[in-house]
Amino acid sequence: MLAGGAGTRLFPLSRVSSKQLQPVYDKPMIYYPLATLMSAGIREIHLITTPNDLPAFREALGDGRQWGVELSYGVQPAPGGIAQAVVIGESFIGDEPFTLVLGDNIFHGPIGLDDEVATFDRGAVIWGYPVDDPQRYGVIEIDQAGAVLSIEEKPDHPRSDLAVPGLYVYDGTAVSRAKDLQPSARGELEITDLNLSFLNDGELRAVKLGRDITWLDSGTHESLLDSSNFIAAIEKRQGLKVACLEEVAFHMGFVSAREIAQTIETMPGSPYRTYCERSILG
Ligand code: DAU
Repeated sequence: MLAGGAGTRLFPLSRVSSKQLQPVYDKPMIYYPLATLMSAGIREIHLITTPNDLPAFREALGDGRQWGVELSYGVQPAPGGIAQAVVIGESFIGDEPFTLVLGDNIFHGPIGLDDEVATFDRGAVIWGYPVDDPQRYGVIEIDQAGAVLSIEEKPDHPRSDLAVPGLYVYDGTAVSRAKDLQPSARGELEITDLNLSFLNDGELRAVKLGRDITWLDSGTHESLLDSSNFIAAIEKRQGLKVACLEEVAFHMGFVSAREIAQTIETMPGSPYRTYCERSILG
């Protein structure tokens, strides 16, 4: 998980805490991508953040034991690009396949990460999501059969409306590929260049997300508010929480009822605790 960056667009909120720890309705933003990984059965998780924000993440998430996952931490000294995370994570990754998720990306609905992870063999898998403003994102063009024809970072004239969300599955070659990248004009190792390296070798596959999925990024005041409103609307309507990590951990079988009861014991009296008691312990 990548949760660094300067978060300057959220100033002065960014002065108080890291972007990815800001509230999205009733939870820290990072809970949502963490739930995305856990729901796909991923239990070894490496979170990369800034030297400044590391203590706050450790405080908020600990070592993951309470959710039955192994959470370790890495540091990105300066925002050198999303693909730099792959280089920083080298010792965690080894030469195994891995998933990279951006800490400000929120997914809701069946994106199929579990199936992709379970059946993943080699190369890289990315997703494509139709948006109204593709020029703000990485953009892919795919043919009828789903083969990727092109991928461009924030193009002035997008060749499609399919943005690439901040979720990527790579084989172990991603590390050496990322090391070979040159910084872009904005001085970053671009994730789009890493994807291009797979594309050039015929090793990039894209999954198109339908309109039953919601994908939000929360890097501006407006999108942060939109995300909060979206989560609040669903939670109020269903009486169910999105990205309640205790609930995800229990449903995935990562922790037993006894273990989760012990975790809930440590929570202060709050609507969140009441929800956990009701939804997990019954
Ligand atoms: O949200 C998806 C988009 O994310 C993709 O479509 C683009 O291809 C990809 O380049 C990226 O675009 P952004 O302009 O949104 O990236 P941003 O610089 O905002 O960084 C996204 C997250 O990654 C943000 O939460 C901060 C974190 N980050 C970013 C950089 C550049 C780091 O932790 N370290 C970094 O060096």
